[in-house]
Amino acid sequence: MSWRDGGVSRRARWLTADHRPPPTSVHVVGDDLTADRACRLAADGAGLLWRGDFHNACTLLDAMARRIDRAGGRHRPLPPAAEFHRQRQHRAHRARLLGCLLVELGAGHVLDLRRAPDVTAACREVFGPSDGTALLALRELIGARSAHEWRRRGIPVPALGARIHPHHGVFAPTRTDYVELVAQAPLGPVRAAFDVGTGTGVLAALLLRRGADTVVATDVEPRAVACARENLHRLGFADRSTVLQRNLFPPGRADLVVCNPPWMPGTPTSPLEAGIYDRRGTTLAAFVRAVPDHLTQPGEAWLVVSDLPELLGLRDPGALPALVAAAGLAVRDRVTAPSSVRHLPDDDPLTPLRRRETIALWRLGR
Ligand SMILES: C[S@@+](CC[C@H](N)C(=O)[O-])C[C@H]1O[C@@H](n2cnc3c(N)ncnc32)[C@H](O)[C@@H]1O
Repeated sequence: MSWRDGGVSRRARWLTADHRPPPTSVHVVGDDLTADRACRLAADGAGLLWRGDFHNACTLLDAMARRIDRAGGRHRPLPPAAEFHRQRQHRAHRARLLGCLLVELGAGHVLDLRRAPDVTAACREVFGPSDGTALLALRELIGARSAHEWRRRGIPVPALGARIHPHHGVFAPTRTDYVELVAQAPLGPVRAAFDVGTGTGVLAALLLRRGADTVVATDVEPRAVACARENLHRLGFADRSTVLQRNLFPPGRADLVVCNPPWMPGTPTSPLEAGIYDRRGTTLAAFVRAVPDHLTQPGEAWLVVSDLPELLGLRDPGALPALVAAAGLAVRDRVTAPSSVRHLPDDDPLTPLRRRETIALWRLGR
């Protein structure tokens, strides 16, 4: 990126872990910038390069977020599916505008602003080694710092009796519902298991803890692959697990194939969203169609699926049973758990439906 700063021409690399495009122009701004003006400039696509106090920048970002939410807040009631799409569009619009507030990192990922924290370790983890001066969205920098803390401290997973350390942009097991389902499903002797879409490796670790001899885990996201490897290693499962970057299945067959795929039909807009949104439901469909070819006889597939898409009208209630039947699979059992998501905003029209969400573990066999 290039811009003028106090009459001097400047250049820097654009840094993003969320695949965000750089703003079209850069304006140098400071502590006197109001949230109203910042939102107006951001709406024109300008990047606002912050030179003031770090904490003031964070306060400005919060004030901008409140304005954007207020502006998008009032609208006529919509059917659930349309409301869901409206909310996603609003979040994308909000992320675009908030992503316009930029900071400059010097060599070594040093943030040279008044009252700036040390961001070097967090940035190294998320963006890799520093390659000289770089501009990035303050919002991404804040995200990198909280991801760094999560990764350092880890998340307790009671069903595993251990902590899982998520990496930035990797789907983290903050929900207990699906992990408990996998922890409690009846498990016979398993020589080889697959964990398709492993994320942090939490389900692979759970299967190993429950007695599977070996697990081969896959994920399409390189960060998830690195994260799962690290977690499995830390938990002492390095010699019984393999993690591969793959679309869906590893080679061969397994006695048990577990998969908690992205569960909401929709287009992912970041690596993290690739854990949540499944473009036109193609990953779920591809998994169900192909899983019989990856099972031993009498192997079993455990598919974790939320019914939120059905509740919101995003998926036909008959679609998944039809996919299962078309793949020649029989449903050996289907156990459900209520959603463990607790903090849902009262003023969101989708909250009553979200409160009814259940997670199911489908035990499928040939
Ligand atoms: C809902 S997350 C589940 C992560 C982890 N298994 C868990 O239960 O916490 C879905 C994961 O599937 C991965 N994924 C999405 N599409 C995939 C594909 N075609 N092949 C392999 N992994 C995929 C995502 O990157 C993400 O890590």
